[in-house]
Amino acid sequence: MSGGISFFDSGMGGLSVLKHFLELFPGISVTYLGDTARFPYGTKSRETIVRFAREDARFLAEMKPDLIIAACFTVSSQAFEEFSDEVSPIPTLGVLEAGARVAARLTRSGAIGVLATEGTIRSNAYPRLIAEIDPGIGVFAQPCPLFAPLVEEGWVVGDVAEAVSREYLTPYLTKWKNVDTMILGCTHYPPLLPVLQKILPEVTFIDPGYELAREILNRNLVSQNPERPATMRFFVTDGVERFSRVGENLLKHPIADVVLVDPVFEKLAEHGENP
Ligand code: DGL
Repeated sequence: MSGGISFFDSGMGGLSVLKHFLELFPGISVTYLGDTARFPYGTKSRETIVRFAREDARFLAEMKPDLIIAACFTVSSQAFEEFSDEVSPIPTLGVLEAGARVAARLTRSGAIGVLATEGTIRSNAYPRLIAEIDPGIGVFAQPCPLFAPLVEEGWVVGDVAEAVSREYLTPYLTKWKNVDTMILGCTHYPPLLPVLQKILPEVTFIDPGYELAREILNRNLVSQNPERPATMRFFVTDGVERFSRVGENLLKHPIADVVLVDPVFEKLAEHGENP
């Protein structure tokens, strides 16, 4: 298979990014790689993330897509250059920039919040990006490591989701009250939006996956081929059944055709299996 867009994530979270592409580009063919065996990336060192990202990129490049999207904020913030180099000359996009641009445009107070993994926050990628757009904007970041497992359990509403969210959002209710725009800087966070909005009703939340899909649509960066039927293929490094079952809640679309691949992708090379 070749052509179309390939999406990559550390696990199933990137499906929340893919979801917007299915809505805005109904005719596209997509492949998706979720490195579920090595999930999570968000708590790992940069060295490890770079190594994983390179291996993931080599697998994706074999499919010869028209475009590869690193739908993982942790990889986009810490290993994007290495990821892109590995698949060159295939074009790549990360998931940070579009959302950062929209947030910088929308803030009135000049204070933007970022909710993300520890790794994304440690990288300082968002403050750097936003400073390039407008050095006068302040960025106030909060790691939310419990959100990813919560969302994978499907606990996106109710007492537990509210208690955990309130704990993480407390700084925005106390010392960072001037934040008026919040970036959901992790693949897993958009399903928690109703709970987050309830706690911070005055704040505008940005879903970077949606902003990326919209930017690509507005800039006409992806051509849809009406002759070719839309296809979706999924590759995971562990847990095919769980990926389909839990992933459907993130994608809001049935997930079939999930192929298990080796975590370091040797199996494909050994057997000469071209996905
Ligand atoms: N996909 C990761 C991200 O967007 C979140 C999950 C993980 O820690 O791997 O940062």
